[in-house]
This record gives sequence, C-alpha cells and structure tokens, in this order.
Amino acid sequence: MQIGSLKTETSFFLAPMAGYTDAAFRSVCKRFGCSMGYTEVAVAQGLIRGSKPSWHLLETVPGERPIAGHIYGSDPDVMARTAAAIEATGRFDLIDINCGCPVRKIVAKGAGAALIRDPNRIGEIVRAVRAEVSLPVTVKTRIGFDAEKPRIREIAEQVETGGAHALAIHGRYAAHHHRGDVDWELIAEIKTMCRIPVIGNGGVFTAQEALRRLRESGVDGIMIARGAVGQPWIFDDIARLERGEPIAVRRLTELRDIIEQHLAGLVALKKIEGGHRRKGSFLVDRGAATHFRCHLIQYLSGLQDWADIRRQFNDLASSADIMEVVDAVFERQHSDIVPSR
Ligand SMILES: Cc1cc2nc3c(=O)[nH]c(=O)nc-3n(C[C@H](O)[C@H](O)[C@H](O)COP(=O)(O)O)c2cc1C
Repeated sequence: MQIGSLKTETSFFLAPMAGYTDAAFRSVCKRFGCSMGYTEVAVAQGLIRGSKPSWHLLETVPGERPIAGHIYGSDPDVMARTAAAIEATGRFDLIDINCGCPVRKIVAKGAGAALIRDPNRIGEIVRAVRAEVSLPVTVKTRIGFDAEKPRIREIAEQVETGGAHALAIHGRYAAHHHRGDVDWELIAEIKTMCRIPVIGNGGVFTAQEALRRLRESGVDGIMIARGAVGQPWIFDDIARLERGEPIAVRRLTELRDIIEQHLAGLVALKKIEGGHRRKGSFLVDRGAATHFRCHLIQYLSGLQDWADIRRQFNDLASSADIMEVVDAVFERQHSDIVPSR
C-alpha cells in the first residue's frame, strides 16, 4: 500500500492501542508480518514540553519499522511542532493524528473524539502538521461522535483538502467506545469519495474477516486492534490465506517462545523507563510482569483449566512468575495445539 512516500509491504496494520502497542508488542506482530505498527497515543503538549513519560510512549526498537507515531492534541501549532520533533528523531515513518479517542480526559481538552464535532479543526491540524514535516501524515478517526450524526463525510473532506496522505476509519461512533456494530457500508462509501487511501478498522478478529472486509468494502488497507492481542500471528494467517495456503497450526512451544520474546521486550522497555526514573532491576521486572498480565490473559485464553489459573494473576510479580504460570498451564493441556478463537 502506498501512503504518500511510504510503501508498506502489505495492506494490514496493527492499530494503535494505549497500554498495548508498545515496541515489545509491535515487534512480536512484526515477526508475523504486520507491515506497520502504530505507537500508543502520546499527548502533543507533553511531547513538546519534553515530558519523559510521554516520550517513553514513543520508544522504538530496531527492526520494527515502518512505525507510525500516533499523537493527540487540539492546537494545530502544538501538533505541528510535535510532529516535527517526532520526525527529527529519525525513528518514525509516518505521523498519525488521533481524532477518535473517546476517553473523557482527552475529549475534555478538545482533542481525540472531540475533534469529530469540529471537522474544520481537523483540517487545520492536518494543514499545520503537513507544513512542518516531510513524513506522510494520516488521520485516524471514527464515523461520528454519536449515532444521531455521522460526521465522517465532512471529516474525510477536511482530511483530504488539508493534505493528509491517508485516512483510517474506525467504523463505530465514539459514544459506543469499542462495542457495537461496525458500519463497514459507511466506510465503503467514504472510500468511494476519497482520492487518498482509506484504511478500514473495526471488528476484524480473524484472517478470513480481514480479507473479506478488504474485498467487500474496497478499502486500501485494514487495521487490526484487539484481533492481534493474544494472537499476533493473525498477520501471518492473512498472508497465508492470501497465497491460497492453509493457516498454520500453532503449537504451545511456539506460543511459549512468543510469550518469552514479548516479555523480554517489555523488560527491556521498562529498563529504559526505569533508567529515567532510577528504578532498580527488581522494580523493572515487576513493572514488566504487571504490564504483561493484560496480554497474558489473551495469550492463554481458550486453554484448558484457564479459569483456575486466572485467579492467581494478581500474584504474578516477576517474569519468572509469569513463565512458571505459563508452564503450569501448558502442562495441563491434553493437546499441544493452540486453540483457534
Ligand atoms: C485498549 C485499547 C486502547 C486503544 N487505544 C487507542 C488509541 O490510543 N488511539 C486510537 O486511535 N485508537 C485506540 N483504540 C481503538 C483501536 O485502535 C481500534 O480503533 C478499535 O479497537 C477497533 O478495532 P478492533 O475492533 O479491531 O479492536 C484502542 C482500543 C483498545 C481496545
């Protein structure tokens, strides 16, 4: 897929997810052929002030490119200067502007999903960012704030005239957060009115769905969020299906290896963060283990006796604890095949 000057290997991307899509998880998805990952969302004001926690959200590791730096804010000038600072790191391939996050504290600042109610402001932000950076600029938004009023037609017009290189649309209303129907028909309609590439998003949990949505809606790309959590191999499944091959059977040994890679990546990231905050290695490891729990739930869900093990989760305080639980769960399985969702 071509997004401005950036050519991606496939049309399937890992969507931004706060608390999930850090460099450790993006690298695991990359291992399975994800052709671009988005960072967690970072606040432009914080980045421009040099806030370490905000910059930590944009941590990257070698080998995971291309990467989209995903930011939110409401002031075109601040957004533009932030985008320039991100470009100056030389670690990013694209700047993505969040115009869809419904989290109250973001909306209260006039950013994220609040921008859906002000399509002109989205246009101004895109124009300002475009003027400051040479990287491709994209917008990720939703079809509207609430179901009474889809705003995506006006938004698409502003995004396009503002000079963005692509538009990603989550086919739900902001008021519905991540639940409810995804309006792929409306996404398809927007695709027909846009000259820039359109990336569709929402409710894609299997490789079959990914290919069907791409084909039926006519969009240029598909972004997968929750469908990649606990099954990062979804990108490999898609590639195999596209080639007409059967989807690979995943064995517990491979899942163990994925969990180890992911956890080690997280420890490495926490070490960098720990360095900022002068944390000892014990706290670094505990931070990684605590953070990893949300992924672990998804990696292990569907396995036998899973509910029992889940009760021990709050006691997992180190990477060693995590791997011990993983091995205990695996020992209880009657089959070495990872069940498909
Ligand atoms: C835990 C979580 C965090 C998310 N964080 C962001 C975010 O920071 N920025 C954003 O644009 N979308 C965010 N999203 C929305 C996803 O990118 C995606 O649009 C949404 O989950 C629909 O895709 P899905 O049905 O494939 O999960 C988040 C979703 C989840 C579940």
